[in-house]
Amino acid sequence: MKYTHFLGLCVAVLLVGCLDQQISDEEVLDQQLLAAISKTSITGSFQHYVLPADNQLTSLPNIDPANPLTQEKIELGKMLFFETGFGLKPRYNELTGTYSCSSCHVPSAGFTPGRFQGIADGGIGFGYSGEMRRKEDQYGSTDVDAQGVRALSMFNTAYVTNSLWSGTFGSQDNNVGLEAIWRADTIAYVNDFGYKTLETQNIENYTIHRMTINEETITKLGYKELFDNAFPDLPKEQRYSPIGGSFALSAYLRSLITNQAPFQRYLRGERSAMNDQEKKGAMLFFTKANCTSCHNGPAFNANTFQAIGVNDLAEIDGALNTSKTDKRNFGRGGFTKDSRDNYRFKVPQLYNLRDANFYFHGSSKNTLREVVEYFNAGKAENPNVPADQLSSNFIPLNMTNQEIEDLTAFLKTALFDPEFQRFIPDQVMSGNCFPNNDTWSKQDIGCN
Ligand code: HEC
Ligand code: HEC
Repeated sequence: MKYTHFLGLCVAVLLVGCLDQQISDEEVLDQQLLAAISKTSITGSFQHYVLPADNQLTSLPNIDPANPLTQEKIELGKMLFFETGFGLKPRYNELTGTYSCSSCHVPSAGFTPGRFQGIADGGIGFGYSGEMRRKEDQYGSTDVDAQGVRALSMFNTAYVTNSLWSGTFGSQDNNVGLEAIWRADTIAYVNDFGYKTLETQNIENYTIHRMTINEETITKLGYKELFDNAFPDLPKEQRYSPIGGSFALSAYLRSLITNQAPFQRYLRGERSAMNDQEKKGAMLFFTKANCTSCHNGPAFNANTFQAIGVNDLAEIDGALNTSKTDKRNFGRGGFTKDSRDNYRFKVPQLYNLRDANFYFHGSSKNTLREVVEYFNAGKAENPNVPADQLSSNFIPLNMTNQEIEDLTAFLKTALFDPEFQRFIPDQVMSGNCFPNNDTWSKQDIGCN
């Protein structure tokens, strides 16, 4: 009896000893990781990567002084983004009122189209996350509203100072001094209004995406009171116009912050929010793989333009409304017309890309693993991009297969905010089906 007691005690001591050891191994990994994150952060602290909570959004940068952030605007923009009722300028009448911003920016596909190219007017069908959308038969390939690059995500656009892959919009930051260039550009004349990039682009978006927003349509669809409550100080000619619409949409876009991702919870002190593999992947991201040499902003975006030589959308069979000479294939250079900017693209944010289905501006990759393999190889796939144009940080990384797996896990799950449903409205004022309202989409979405 005494003997077994003694044995039991020994086992208990051993177990506690082991547990102690395990906890401290984990702690060491956490300390090393936090140190690596701080070391590579442009502020010297891992706090640089902590995104604000949903109730702290007014601390975000780049808020337009003409459009202070309020809950009323966010709630209004949340419906406008999905509202198909403003889609009143289709090329063919049959598709009147069938498309919205979210036709190309689908929340469950990371606010990307869910297929290699988004289609708004001229598209029918949806599937689960946009993957089944297709061109309607009577539309020619240049009739549709489809752009020559993959749509960017809407997550964390609060950190973008010049929007689009080319950084075309906004008069500040990268575009200071480029007045002559934007005045000669087909869409960027709105930069002269002097707003921040989101406000600027979203004014023009109403034209580009064939929508009509004015007092009549706002009233008819049931939004008048919401505009009055959100913009009591905006003169009526601006309030019921693309300006009021843009201000609300911009406020909503700023609220799309992925602060519930495991990596965010981890940075806030919840050390078990990431598993071992994700932590190893994070370590690679910040050290050996040197991803932050380019992706160095709070949401791993950057307001710089880098050439990594990926293929263009025009290379994909069935790409609509684009060609080998599309100016968008030239990235920043397509806007500035400076050959040194050719093939340089804005560094995109990296959250909630798990279900995007297509990656890079030309949708040339289908999985995050393929993206990581591409960076690991450090070799341009696009023969048009001259070697001396490639970013000096785009180099082979010599990662092992296990390391590639770990880094992929970090991107896929640690940088994924599973609570993104909070950004989708329960309904829109018109009562229409969303994000699309054509017969086939309604069936797919279950609106009938
Ligand atoms: C036909 C598809 C389509 C529709 C509809 C659409 N977008 Fe986009 N969106 C895109 C594409 C493609 C890009 C990238 C274009 C580029 O870089 O040249 C983009 C880029 C953006 C960006 C820039 C993001 C960044 O990081 O630079 C914002 C903001 C945006 N869209 C907002 C909206 C809003 C708001 C609406 C509705 C008014 C809308 N979009 C409707 C396809 C679409
Ligand atoms: C030389 C700068 C640079 C480095 C280093 C870099 N990236 Fe990128 N990354 C970019 C640019 C620029 C793009 C967009 C390129 C394009 O589509 O033309 C991009 C795109 C991506 C995308 C696709 C995003 C989307 O919306 O399609 C992912 C994912 C990504 N990078 C992850 C990483 C990871 C992981 C690393 C480290 C292994 C890394 N990047 C290193 C510049 C860089």
